[in-house]
Amino acid sequence: MADILTLGIESSCDETSASVIKNGRIILSNVISTQIDLHKVYGGVVPELASRKHVEFIIQVIDEALAKAGVKKEEIDQIGVTFGPGLVGALLVGLSAAKAMAFALNKPLIGVHHIEGHISANFLENPELEPPFVCLVASGGHSHIVDCYDYGKFRILGRTRDDAAGEAFDKISREIGLGYPGGPAIDREAKKGNPEAIKFPRVHMGDSLDFSFSGVKTAVLNYLNKERMQGHEIPVADVCASFQKAVTDILTENTFKAAEMCGYRKVALAGGVASNSALRNAFETTAAKKGFEFYRPSPILCTDNAAMIGCAAHYASLKGRFSQLSLNAQPNISLEEI
Ligand code: KG4
Ligand code: ZN
Repeated sequence: MADILTLGIESSCDETSASVIKNGRIILSNVISTQIDLHKVYGGVVPELASRKHVEFIIQVIDEALAKAGVKKEEIDQIGVTFGPGLVGALLVGLSAAKAMAFALNKPLIGVHHIEGHISANFLENPELEPPFVCLVASGGHSHIVDCYDYGKFRILGRTRDDAAGEAFDKISREIGLGYPGGPAIDREAKKGNPEAIKFPRVHMGDSLDFSFSGVKTAVLNYLNKERMQGHEIPVADVCASFQKAVTDILTENTFKAAEMCGYRKVALAGGVASNSALRNAFETTAAKKGFEFYRPSPILCTDNAAMIGCAAHYASLKGRFSQLSLNAQPNISLEEI
Protein backbone atom coordinates (compact mmCIF):
# COMPACT_ATOMS: atom_id res chain seq x y z
CA MET A 1 0.00 0.00 0.00
CA ALA A 2 1.20 3.51 -0.78
CA ASP A 3 2.43 5.63 2.11
CA ILE A 4 -0.02 8.15 3.54
CA LEU A 5 1.50 11.54 4.29
CA THR A 6 -0.38 13.82 6.70
CA LEU A 7 0.49 17.45 7.35
CA GLY A 8 -0.42 18.35 10.95
CA ILE A 9 -0.93 21.96 12.07
CA GLU A 10 -1.33 23.19 15.68
CA SER A 11 -1.86 26.76 16.95
CA SER A 12 -4.34 26.49 19.83
CA CYS A 13 -2.27 28.27 22.50
CA ASP A 14 1.30 29.57 22.49
CA GLU A 15 3.06 27.12 20.16
CA THR A 16 2.98 27.41 16.37
CA SER A 17 3.71 23.95 15.03
CA ALA A 18 3.64 21.92 11.80
CA SER A 19 4.60 18.31 11.20
CA VAL A 20 4.68 15.69 8.48
CA ILE A 21 3.61 12.20 9.60
CA LYS A 22 4.00 9.04 7.52
CA ASN A 23 1.39 6.29 7.94
CA GLY A 24 0.14 7.75 11.20
CA ARG A 25 3.09 6.98 13.43
CA ILE A 26 6.35 7.95 11.75
CA ILE A 27 7.48 11.55 12.40
CA LEU A 28 9.23 12.93 9.29
CA SER A 29 9.36 16.41 10.83
CA ASN A 30 7.93 18.25 13.85
CA VAL A 31 8.70 21.99 13.87
CA ILE A 32 7.65 23.88 17.01
CA SER A 33 7.98 27.64 17.35
CA THR A 34 7.28 28.49 20.99
CA GLN A 35 6.19 31.90 22.27
CA ILE A 36 7.03 31.17 25.92
CA ASP A 37 9.62 33.97 26.17
CA LEU A 38 7.09 36.50 24.86
CA HIS A 39 4.38 35.59 27.40
CA LYS A 40 6.77 35.04 30.35
CA VAL A 41 6.94 38.80 30.97
CA TYR A 42 3.15 38.84 31.60
CA GLY A 43 3.09 35.69 33.78
CA GLY A 44 0.80 33.82 31.36
CA VAL A 45 -0.42 33.64 27.77
CA VAL A 46 -1.80 36.94 26.39
CA PRO A 47 -4.33 35.80 23.74
CA GLU A 48 -3.99 38.78 21.37
CA LEU A 49 -0.19 38.57 21.35
CA ALA A 50 -0.42 34.81 20.75
CA SER A 51 -2.63 35.30 17.65
CA ARG A 52 -0.27 37.90 16.20
CA LYS A 53 2.77 35.67 16.65
CA HIS A 54 0.96 32.73 15.05
CA VAL A 55 0.20 34.93 12.01
CA GLU A 56 3.86 35.91 11.82
CA PHE A 57 5.21 32.35 11.99
CA ILE A 58 2.62 29.95 10.59
CA ILE A 59 3.77 29.96 6.95
CA GLN A 60 7.45 29.62 7.73
CA VAL A 61 6.79 26.83 10.26
CA ILE A 62 4.76 24.89 7.65
CA ASP A 63 7.44 25.46 4.98
CA GLU A 64 10.15 24.29 7.37
CA ALA A 65 8.18 21.16 8.32
CA LEU A 66 7.80 20.23 4.63
CA ALA A 67 11.47 20.98 3.89
CA LYS A 68 12.72 18.95 6.89
CA ALA A 69 10.54 16.02 5.85
CA GLY A 70 11.83 16.29 2.27
CA VAL A 71 8.23 16.44 1.04
CA LYS A 72 6.74 18.85 -1.52
CA LYS A 73 3.35 20.28 -0.55
CA GLU A 74 1.75 18.60 -3.58
CA GLU A 75 2.88 15.22 -2.19
CA ILE A 76 0.88 15.63 1.05
CA ASP A 77 -2.20 13.38 1.09
CA GLN A 78 -4.24 15.21 3.72
CA ILE A 79 -4.13 18.06 6.21
CA GLY A 80 -5.02 17.72 9.88
CA VAL A 81 -5.51 20.82 12.02
CA THR A 82 -6.55 21.63 15.60
CA PHE A 83 -9.97 23.33 15.48
CA GLY A 84 -10.58 23.40 19.25
CA PRO A 85 -10.50 23.72 22.16
CA GLY A 86 -8.13 26.65 22.69
CA LEU A 87 -7.85 30.40 22.26
CA VAL A 88 -10.18 31.35 19.42
CA GLY A 89 -7.84 33.89 17.78
CA ALA A 90 -4.93 31.46 17.99
CA LEU A 91 -6.95 28.52 16.62
CA LEU A 92 -8.16 30.59 13.66
CA VAL A 93 -4.61 31.16 12.40
CA GLY A 94 -3.70 27.47 12.01
CA LEU A 95 -7.20 26.65 10.80
CA SER A 96 -7.16 29.36 8.11
CA ALA A 97 -3.74 28.21 6.89
CA ALA A 98 -4.91 24.57 6.77
CA LYS A 99 -8.13 25.43 4.94
CA ALA A 100 -6.30 27.60 2.41
CA MET A 101 -3.83 24.80 1.69
CA ALA A 102 -6.55 22.15 1.49
CA PHE A 103 -8.48 24.31 -1.00
CA ALA A 104 -5.46 25.31 -3.12
CA LEU A 105 -4.00 21.77 -3.23
CA ASN A 106 -7.38 20.03 -3.38
CA LYS A 107 -6.54 17.78 -0.42
CA PRO A 108 -8.87 16.52 2.32
CA LEU A 109 -9.09 18.54 5.54
CA ILE A 110 -9.42 16.86 8.95
CA GLY A 111 -10.38 18.87 12.03
CA VAL A 112 -8.64 17.46 15.13
CA HIS A 113 -9.68 17.97 18.75
CA HIS A 114 -6.67 19.23 20.71
CA ILE A 115 -7.07 16.61 23.47
CA GLU A 116 -7.46 13.84 20.88
CA GLY A 117 -4.09 15.06 19.62
CA HIS A 118 -2.47 14.92 23.07
CA ILE A 119 -3.72 11.34 23.58
CA SER A 120 -2.48 10.31 20.11
CA ALA A 121 1.06 11.45 20.97
CA ASN A 122 1.33 8.04 22.68
CA PHE A 123 1.01 6.22 19.34
CA LEU A 124 4.03 8.02 17.87
CA GLU A 125 6.66 6.34 20.01
CA ASN A 126 4.87 3.12 20.91
CA PRO A 127 4.23 1.19 17.69
CA GLU A 128 2.63 -1.65 19.65
CA LEU A 129 0.08 0.54 21.48
CA GLU A 130 -3.52 -0.05 20.38
CA PRO A 131 -6.79 0.97 22.06
CA PRO A 132 -8.40 0.29 24.45
CA PHE A 133 -6.54 2.06 27.25
CA VAL A 134 -7.15 4.74 29.86
CA CYS A 135 -5.30 8.02 29.42
CA LEU A 136 -4.80 10.85 31.88
CA VAL A 137 -4.70 14.11 29.94
CA ALA A 138 -3.30 16.90 32.12
CA SER A 139 -2.39 20.22 30.55
CA GLY A 140 -2.70 23.95 31.13
CA GLY A 141 -6.36 23.94 30.17
CA HIS A 142 -7.58 20.38 30.84
CA SER A 143 -7.46 17.52 33.32
CA HIS A 144 -9.40 14.52 32.10
CA ILE A 145 -9.32 10.78 32.67
CA VAL A 146 -10.31 9.35 29.30
CA ASP A 147 -11.48 5.91 28.25
CA CYS A 148 -9.86 5.57 24.79
CA TYR A 149 -11.93 2.58 23.65
CA ASP A 150 -11.09 2.87 19.94
CA TYR A 151 -9.14 5.17 17.60
CA GLY A 152 -10.85 8.58 17.75
CA LYS A 153 -13.47 7.30 20.24
CA PHE A 154 -13.44 8.69 23.75
CA ARG A 155 -15.46 8.67 26.94
CA ILE A 156 -14.57 11.06 29.74
CA LEU A 157 -14.51 9.18 33.06
CA GLY A 158 -13.28 11.97 35.32
CA ARG A 159 -12.52 15.66 35.01
CA THR A 160 -11.46 18.63 37.07
CA ARG A 161 -14.25 20.50 38.83
CA ASP A 162 -12.20 23.73 38.91
CA ASP A 163 -8.57 24.40 37.86
CA ALA A 164 -6.70 22.22 35.38
CA ALA A 165 -3.59 20.57 36.86
CA GLY A 166 -1.23 22.73 34.75
CA GLU A 167 -3.12 25.84 35.74
CA ALA A 168 -2.56 24.97 39.42
CA PHE A 169 1.18 24.52 38.74
CA ASP A 170 1.27 27.88 36.93
CA LYS A 171 -0.59 29.76 39.69
CA ILE A 172 1.52 28.34 42.54
CA SER A 173 4.70 29.04 40.61
CA ARG A 174 3.68 32.67 40.07
CA GLU A 175 2.88 33.01 43.78
CA ILE A 176 6.29 31.63 44.81
CA GLY A 177 8.01 33.84 42.23
CA LEU A 178 9.23 31.06 39.94
CA GLY A 179 7.57 32.53 36.82
CA TYR A 180 5.78 31.07 33.77
CA PRO A 181 5.37 28.30 32.75
CA GLY A 182 5.10 27.03 36.30
CA GLY A 183 5.18 23.27 35.69
CA PRO A 184 8.80 22.92 34.60
CA ALA A 185 9.97 25.42 37.28
CA ILE A 186 8.19 23.56 40.11
CA ASP A 187 9.39 20.21 38.74
CA ARG A 188 13.00 21.49 38.86
CA GLU A 189 12.74 22.99 42.39
CA ALA A 190 10.89 19.94 43.73
CA LYS A 191 13.89 17.72 42.96
CA LYS A 192 15.77 19.54 45.77
CA GLY A 193 12.89 19.31 48.27
CA ASN A 194 11.13 16.82 50.55
CA PRO A 195 7.68 15.78 49.27
CA GLU A 196 6.62 14.83 52.82
CA ALA A 197 7.72 18.14 54.41
CA ILE A 198 4.30 19.87 54.32
CA LYS A 199 0.98 18.02 54.33
CA PHE A 200 -1.25 19.59 51.67
CA PRO A 201 -4.78 18.13 51.22
CA ARG A 202 -5.73 15.44 48.65
CA VAL A 203 -9.32 16.15 47.66
CA HIS A 204 -11.55 13.16 46.86
CA MET A 205 -14.93 13.81 45.25
CA GLY A 206 -16.83 10.91 46.83
CA ASP A 207 -17.05 7.89 44.51
CA SER A 208 -16.49 10.07 41.45
CA LEU A 209 -13.20 10.06 39.50
CA ASP A 210 -13.31 13.88 39.26
CA PHE A 211 -10.54 16.11 40.64
CA SER A 212 -10.44 19.44 42.42
CA PHE A 213 -7.22 21.42 42.60
CA SER A 214 -8.55 24.63 44.08
CA GLY A 215 -8.36 23.14 47.61
CA VAL A 216 -4.68 22.25 47.40
CA LYS A 217 -3.97 25.58 45.69
CA THR A 218 -5.67 27.52 48.50
CA ALA A 219 -3.84 25.43 51.11
CA VAL A 220 -0.48 26.32 49.52
CA LEU A 221 -1.41 30.02 49.28
CA ASN A 222 -2.56 30.04 52.94
CA TYR A 223 0.68 28.36 53.97
CA LEU A 224 2.78 30.92 52.07
CA ASN A 225 0.82 33.85 53.57
CA LYS A 226 1.15 32.50 57.10
CA GLU A 227 4.89 31.88 56.79
CA ARG A 228 5.44 35.34 55.27
CA MET A 229 3.39 37.07 57.97
CA GLN A 230 5.45 35.34 60.63
CA GLY A 231 8.62 36.55 58.90
CA HIS A 232 9.80 33.01 58.06
CA GLU A 233 11.82 32.26 54.98
CA ILE A 234 9.79 30.13 52.51
CA PRO A 235 11.29 26.65 52.05
CA VAL A 236 10.68 26.86 48.27
CA ALA A 237 11.95 23.39 47.35
CA ASP A 238 9.87 21.71 50.09
CA VAL A 239 6.72 23.65 49.12
CA CYS A 240 7.20 22.65 45.46
CA ALA A 241 7.87 19.00 46.27
CA SER A 242 4.93 18.76 48.71
CA PHE A 243 2.49 20.52 46.36
CA GLN A 244 3.64 18.35 43.43
CA LYS A 245 3.20 15.20 45.53
CA ALA A 246 -0.36 16.18 46.53
CA VAL A 247 -1.30 16.72 42.86
CA THR A 248 0.42 13.61 41.51
CA ASP A 249 -1.02 11.37 44.28
CA ILE A 250 -4.60 12.19 43.34
CA LEU A 251 -4.00 12.03 39.57
CA THR A 252 -2.32 8.63 39.88
CA GLU A 253 -4.89 7.14 42.26
CA ASN A 254 -7.91 8.17 40.16
CA THR A 255 -6.40 7.14 36.81
CA PHE A 256 -5.52 3.61 37.95
CA LYS A 257 -8.93 3.29 39.60
CA ALA A 258 -10.51 4.23 36.24
CA ALA A 259 -8.42 1.66 34.35
CA GLU A 260 -9.41 -1.03 36.83
CA MET A 261 -13.08 -0.08 36.49
CA CYS A 262 -12.78 -0.40 32.68
CA GLY A 263 -10.99 -3.75 33.04
CA TYR A 264 -8.01 -2.54 30.96
CA ARG A 265 -4.34 -3.35 31.61
CA LYS A 266 -2.94 -0.31 29.76
CA VAL A 267 -2.55 3.23 31.11
CA ALA A 268 -1.15 6.30 29.32
CA LEU A 269 -0.24 9.90 30.10
CA ALA A 270 -0.66 12.95 27.86
CA GLY A 271 -0.53 16.76 27.93
CA GLY A 272 2.01 19.25 29.21
CA VAL A 273 1.81 18.04 32.83
CA ALA A 274 2.62 14.51 31.60
CA SER A 275 6.23 15.68 31.29
CA ASN A 276 6.35 16.14 35.08
CA SER A 277 9.03 13.82 36.44
CA ALA A 278 7.22 12.99 39.70
CA LEU A 279 3.99 12.13 37.85
CA ARG A 280 5.89 9.90 35.40
CA ASN A 281 7.65 8.15 38.30
CA ALA A 282 4.40 7.68 40.22
CA PHE A 283 2.71 6.15 37.15
CA GLU A 284 5.67 3.92 36.43
CA THR A 285 5.87 2.61 40.01
CA THR A 286 2.10 2.08 40.32
CA ALA A 287 1.91 0.35 36.91
CA ALA A 288 4.74 -2.02 37.88
CA LYS A 289 3.11 -2.77 41.24
CA LYS A 290 -0.35 -3.39 39.80
CA GLY A 291 0.80 -5.17 36.60
CA PHE A 292 -0.20 -2.51 34.06
CA GLU A 293 1.54 -1.53 30.82
CA PHE A 294 2.42 2.17 31.08
CA TYR A 295 2.86 4.48 28.07
CA ARG A 296 3.94 8.12 27.96
CA PRO A 297 5.26 10.37 25.19
CA SER A 298 8.73 11.98 25.35
CA PRO A 299 8.52 15.40 27.04
CA ILE A 300 8.67 17.24 23.68
CA LEU A 301 5.58 15.32 22.51
CA CYS A 302 3.73 15.99 25.82
CA THR A 303 3.56 19.76 25.36
CA ASP A 304 1.79 21.24 22.33
CA ASN A 305 3.11 20.02 18.97
CA ALA A 306 1.75 19.22 15.51
CA ALA A 307 3.06 15.63 15.28
CA MET A 308 0.30 14.54 17.65
CA ILE A 309 -2.26 16.37 15.48
CA GLY A 310 -0.99 14.66 12.31
CA CYS A 311 -1.21 11.27 14.03
CA ALA A 312 -4.78 11.88 15.25
CA ALA A 313 -5.78 13.13 11.77
CA HIS A 314 -4.42 9.95 10.17
CA TYR A 315 -6.59 7.71 12.36
CA ALA A 316 -9.62 10.01 11.90
CA SER A 317 -9.21 9.67 8.11
CA LEU A 318 -9.11 5.86 8.36
CA LYS A 319 -12.54 6.11 10.01
CA GLY A 320 -13.76 8.40 7.18
CA ARG A 321 -13.86 11.48 9.41
CA PHE A 322 -13.17 14.45 7.11
CA SER A 323 -14.14 18.12 7.52
CA GLN A 324 -15.75 20.68 5.24
CA LEU A 325 -13.86 23.82 4.27
CA SER A 326 -16.49 25.67 6.33
CA LEU A 327 -14.96 24.14 9.51
CA ASN A 328 -14.83 26.82 12.20
CA ALA A 329 -12.77 27.20 15.38
CA GLN A 330 -14.61 25.78 18.40
CA PRO A 331 -12.85 27.13 21.49
CA ASN A 332 -14.88 25.07 23.99
CA ILE A 333 -15.70 21.83 22.15
CA SER A 334 -15.80 18.70 24.33
CA LEU A 335 -13.81 15.59 23.44
CA GLU A 336 -16.99 13.55 23.35
CA GLU A 337 -18.53 15.78 20.65
CA ILE A 338 -16.15 14.86 17.81
O1 KG4 B 1 -0.30 20.70 26.81
P1 KG4 B 1 0.32 22.03 27.01
O2 KG4 B 1 1.60 22.34 26.30
O3 KG4 B 1 -0.69 23.18 26.63
C1 KG4 B 1 -2.06 23.09 26.86
O4 KG4 B 1 -2.76 22.45 26.04
O5 KG4 B 1 -2.47 23.63 27.92
O6 KG4 B 1 0.48 22.19 28.59
C2 KG4 B 1 1.03 23.32 29.17
C3 KG4 B 1 0.97 23.14 30.69
C4 KG4 B 1 1.39 24.38 31.49
O7 KG4 B 1 0.43 24.62 32.49
C5 KG4 B 1 2.73 23.94 32.08
O8 KG4 B 1 3.01 24.57 33.32
C6 KG4 B 1 2.53 22.45 32.25
O9 KG4 B 1 1.82 22.05 31.09
N1 KG4 B 1 3.80 21.72 32.30
C7 KG4 B 1 4.20 21.02 33.39
C8 KG4 B 1 5.50 20.54 33.10
N2 KG4 B 1 5.85 20.96 31.84
C9 KG4 B 1 4.78 21.68 31.36
N3 KG4 B 1 3.58 20.77 34.55
C10 KG4 B 1 4.23 20.05 35.47
N4 KG4 B 1 5.50 19.59 35.29
C11 KG4 B 1 6.17 19.79 34.13
N5 KG4 B 1 7.40 19.32 33.97
ZN1 ZN C 1 -2.17 21.19 24.82
